[in-house]
Amino acid sequence: MAGEMVHYKELGLVNTREMFAKAMAGKYAIPAYNFSDMEQLQAILTACADTGSPVILQVSKGARSYAHETLLRHMVQGALQMIREKGSQIPVALHLDHGDSYELCVACIESGFSSVMIDGSHLPYEENVALTRKVVEFAHRFEVTVEGELGVLAGIEDEVSAEHSTYTNPEQVEDFVKKTGVDSLAISIGTSHGAYKFRLAPGEEVPPLRFDILEECERRIPGFPIVLHGASSVVQEYVEMINSFGGKMDNAVGIPEEQLRRAAASAVCKINIDSDGRLAFTAKIREHLAKNPQEFDPRKYLGEARSEFAKLVRHKNEAVLGSAGRV
Ligand code: G3H
Ligand code: 13P
Ligand code: ZN
Repeated sequence: MAGEMVHYKELGLVNTREMFAKAMAGKYAIPAYNFSDMEQLQAILTACADTGSPVILQVSKGARSYAHETLLRHMVQGALQMIREKGSQIPVALHLDHGDSYELCVACIESGFSSVMIDGSHLPYEENVALTRKVVEFAHRFEVTVEGELGVLAGIEDEVSAEHSTYTNPEQVEDFVKKTGVDSLAISIGTSHGAYKFRLAPGEEVPPLRFDILEECERRIPGFPIVLHGASSVVQEYVEMINSFGGKMDNAVGIPEEQLRRAAASAVCKINIDSDGRLAFTAKIREHLAKNPQEFDPRKYLGEARSEFAKLVRHKNEAVLGSAGRV
C-alpha cells in the first residue's frame, strides 16, 4: 500500500453494524449503490441526503482501479463533506464489492473502507470458510465489517463468471456464519448480475425469487443480516430510452420491485444495485446526444445523467427499499 494507513473513521464513515441492526428491526433494507466516478457519487450521496437514507457506497475491484484508490478516497471524503455542509447526518459506509483476495481486502481497509466483501462463493466450502475467516480476523481488528457469500449467482461477478447459479444451501449457513465470524451473508435465491437476468419466452413472466430458501436461511440464523446481490429491476423505461436512441439491449429484464419490497421487509438488510444506475446514466446520455448533436460539453450530458441517477436513487429509497427517512 502506498503511504500511511487511513482509518475510515478519520473520513467520517461508519461500518455497517448499526445500519443493519436498525434495518432488521425496522423491516427495510440499506441500499448499496455501485459507483466509479464523480457524477455517480454525487448523485448517490445527494439523493440519499435528500431522502434521509443511510447508504452503502459500493466499489468493485474494477471500479477501484478505474478511479484510482487514492483519488477514490479523496472523492468520498469530499462528497461526504459536501453533504455535511448542507446539514445531512446520514450514516455512510464505503464497501468493497466482491473482493476476490485477502490482499485486496487488506489494501481497501488500509485506505479507508469501512466494510469489505470477501467473495469465496466459487471456492470449495472449506476454502471459502478459511479465506473468509482470515479476512474477518484482519478486518475486525479495525472495526471493519465483513460480508461473505454462500451460493453462486448466475452471470458475471466482476472477473468471476458463473455460467449457472447454485442456490445457497441453507444447511450450510449456520456453520459458515459461526466458523467465519462474518457480519452479513450474501445468498443466492435466483437473482443474477447485469441487465439480462432471465431468458423469457414471449409473454412469459419473471419467475419469483426463491423466498423459501431465504426463509429457511432466516430460520437457521435468526436476526442475522442477509444481503441480496443482483437486485436491479432493469427499469424498462431506461431500456426503451437506450434502444430508441441508438442502443441495442434486447430482452433486458430484472427483478420486479414488489419482490424487492418483500425481500427488504425480511432479514435482507442490504440490497445491491449497480445495473439500474448504469442504465439511467446511459439512457440520459444517449437521449441528450441524440437530441443535441451539436453538443460537446461533457457537463451537459453528464449533468443530465447525474440528475437521472439521483431521481432513480430517491425512488428506490422511498418506494422500494424503505430506507428513506430512517436517520
Ligand atoms: O457485482 C458486480 C458489480 O456490478 C460490479 O461490476 O466489475 O463491472 O464494476 P464491475
Ligand atoms: P445488479 O447487476 O443487479 O445491479 O447487481 C449489482 C450487484 O450485485 C453488485 O454486487
Ligand atoms: Zn454482486
